[in-house]
Amino acid sequence: MTLKRSDFGEGFTWGVASAAFQVEGAWETDGKRPSVWDDAVLRGRVRGALAGLDGIDAFNRLDEDLDLIAAMGVGANRFSISWPRVFGDGRGPWNPAGGDYYDRLIDGCLARGLEPWVTVHHWDLPLALQREGGWTRRGIVEDFAVFAAELADRFGDRVRNWMVFNEPLSVIGHTVIGVHGSYGPHPMAALSSLHHMNLACAEAGRRMRDVLGDAASIGTTNVFTLAAPFHTTDERLRRRQRSLEALLVDAFLDPAAGRGYPFADSLPLRLMRRYVLDGDVEAAAFDYDFMGVQYYGPLPMTRLPLIGGIPVPSLRGAEANVRSATAIPVEPDGLLELLRRYQHHPACRRMVITESGFGMNDRLVNGEVRDDLRVWYARNHLEAVRTAVREGIAVDGFFQWSYADNIEWQLGREARFGVVYVDYDDDFRRIPKASYRWFQQLLGEGAAP
Ligand code: NOJ
Repeated sequence: MTLKRSDFGEGFTWGVASAAFQVEGAWETDGKRPSVWDDAVLRGRVRGALAGLDGIDAFNRLDEDLDLIAAMGVGANRFSISWPRVFGDGRGPWNPAGGDYYDRLIDGCLARGLEPWVTVHHWDLPLALQREGGWTRRGIVEDFAVFAAELADRFGDRVRNWMVFNEPLSVIGHTVIGVHGSYGPHPMAALSSLHHMNLACAEAGRRMRDVLGDAASIGTTNVFTLAAPFHTTDERLRRRQRSLEALLVDAFLDPAAGRGYPFADSLPLRLMRRYVLDGDVEAAAFDYDFMGVQYYGPLPMTRLPLIGGIPVPSLRGAEANVRSATAIPVEPDGLLELLRRYQHHPACRRMVITESGFGMNDRLVNGEVRDDLRVWYARNHLEAVRTAVREGIAVDGFFQWSYADNIEWQLGREARFGVVYVDYDDDFRRIPKASYRWFQQLLGEGAAP
């Protein structure tokens, strides 16, 4: 079936997305201080030895990358600002040389007709703040809010669209499984971090609003991981699914909407009560202009026959027949399902798909990359969004993750997500893949097969 740009309406935003640590490199340039992810690389937590520190050398290829993004036909470029590049070890002072890079990036977008969409924080916490306890320390709420307000002040004259935080859930994943490494596997650290991130997002939102006023659009992003199968009649399974979704999704959306935490639905969440002080329900609320929806696939659940049929999450779930290189099962219907379900949540009155994409081990053959599977993935997920739009659900943007291959966190260079291939053996050469041409067709010519 043909997919048409016009199916999504005039005001629909088309963009690509990336994050500072994953692309920039230049980790020590011009006074940049180390982040937890630089540290993770240095301590051997990122595959590919020290290569992660180079990103994809985007810091030095700003114009080339922006030209490629503009030529793809999108109208928006989502990127994040590295806290330790612009604000030292976390509390300033402002680093003018680091700030200059983002000035050039923002101006470069605008000069090419690309709307900059800025993520305030995409996981690269200043290492010095981590050493003070990172997100487990309540004082980080204030540190983060000061940083966010500073960005609004410096860039708000040119940036209208903001996302306060990228997928807090994933930071917690890293905390519990110790990928960030700095504070190791520690479940209680995960719960205090969760609450402090919620408080930080809301406080940052308020401070940014004070600086930017109502003309700015201030959102945030979350990963929406629904438990599969989506419509089960098995009551026990459904209860278990509900409890997981409360922990994975609603624990971020409900506080934003001023509802506090869904304690009734999730046993582990109840352990968090000790961190929730008087006034925190109000303090964790912020009226976002949009919710950034990030979706890669569902969390399949099955009943384990051996231990009394207890339903457990299992990546080997029956639903999955295609998996990405990050082991996430592919289920485009999940995107439609979550948009349908969450359209009624007060934190999701307007939704933007701030990330969707497919990780695989692309190969460069005779100078070309035929990533047909990624095209298939994009088409199917866009069809889900189109159905949502037709149903009248308020979703009005789609950002492809990512414009180019980059450092996939702990997997390093091993999972490629770009529509542009990066040849690490040839000085980071950029080579547009088949998926890039497919987007060009959809966005430039108005339709793609
Ligand atoms: C979500 C994260 O925001 C992004 O940084 C990551 O690379 C993608 N998922 C793919 O795993």
